[in-house]
Amino acid sequence: MLILSMAALVVIQTTECKSISFGENYSASTDKLHTRVKSGGSRVELVLDQNSAAGFSSKGKYLFGSIGMKIKLVSGNSAGTVTAYYLSSDGDQHDEMDFEFLGNSSGEPYILQTNVFAKGKGDREQRMTLWFDPTSGYHTYSLRWNKNIIVFYVEGVPVRVFRNNEALGVPFPNNQAVGIYASLWDGSAWATQGGTVPLDWDAAPFVASFQGFGVDACQVISNTSDSDVASCKASSGNWWNTESYQDLNKNQIGKLRDIRSKYVVYDYCTDTSRFPDPPVECAINWYEG
Ligand SMILES: *[C@@H]1O[C@H](CO)[C@@H](O)[C@H](O)[C@H]1NC(C)=O
Ligand SMILES: *[C@@H]1O[C@H](CO)[C@@H](O)[C@H](O)[C@H]1NC(C)=O
Ligand SMILES: *[C@@H]1O[C@H](CO)[C@@H](O)[C@H](O)[C@H]1NC(C)=O
Repeated sequence: MLILSMAALVVIQTTECKSISFGENYSASTDKLHTRVKSGGSRVELVLDQNSAAGFSSKGKYLFGSIGMKIKLVSGNSAGTVTAYYLSSDGDQHDEMDFEFLGNSSGEPYILQTNVFAKGKGDREQRMTLWFDPTSGYHTYSLRWNKNIIVFYVEGVPVRVFRNNEALGVPFPNNQAVGIYASLWDGSAWATQGGTVPLDWDAAPFVASFQGFGVDACQVISNTSDSDVASCKASSGNWWNTESYQDLNKNQIGKLRDIRSKYVVYDYCTDTSRFPDPPVECAINWYEG
């Protein structure tokens, strides 16, 4: 039993998304009409209508860990809507890791856009379609983050890696505590089919649902305290800092390559009109060498 569960952990992370009441770790950022806490806090609905966007955020700030949530996206005509689940620090040199779900006309595929900001610089968009209908039932989206690597997962499958390339001069998010945020908003200026399909307010309210409010991450009480940051970087007690989580194993690399070859529809690394010289981290992050 012990051996089995340890083996499972190496392949996919299983500890985030525990069923904990919303109010223990999170609070609403919008009013009760737009952030609806349901079933005693085991589920939250974000509601976008003509009056307001919707959101919630974590009470704590964190540095490294395994952070994820179960999300059921806006169904039907979701064109123009953006459902975002992301980590972000404060200030103009902020770090950020994003899952952004770009809605679409009924029956057309959602796009998942991911991005990584480090010390205020983003411009690292990647886009993929999904191998399931993200509007029917809850699906898990998560990040495993330590001082050497950030791995984005969809349903436990690695879909994107951002490694620490500070040695090559690329900043990496490793010393600013982040909050965890979810939001649902009108992104029709750019989100759907390049901004050509507007949001249809006749189809409002738009609703996205969230579950799994446990947080398995290192909580930072004061982000100005070096000792707080140092203790989050230390391995003791922080399983995601231990040896086996510093890089993907062969099996995970195989899955990552397979998924990326089938579902990635845009990658800043290969957008030569935007970046004639691919950003330096690109050669290293995709295990293609
Ligand atoms: C929406 O559907 C169209 C047509 O299938 C597709 O080209 C586009 O990538 C989809 N997603 C978004 C967010 O526009
Ligand atoms: C969040 O949830 C975890 C359990 O998953 C708990 O240990 C922690 O104290 C909670 N609160 C904050 C602010 O992280
Ligand atoms: C971290 O610092 C920023 C200012 O740079 C502040 O707004 C924020 O509340 C701080 N967070 C914590 C957890 O101390």
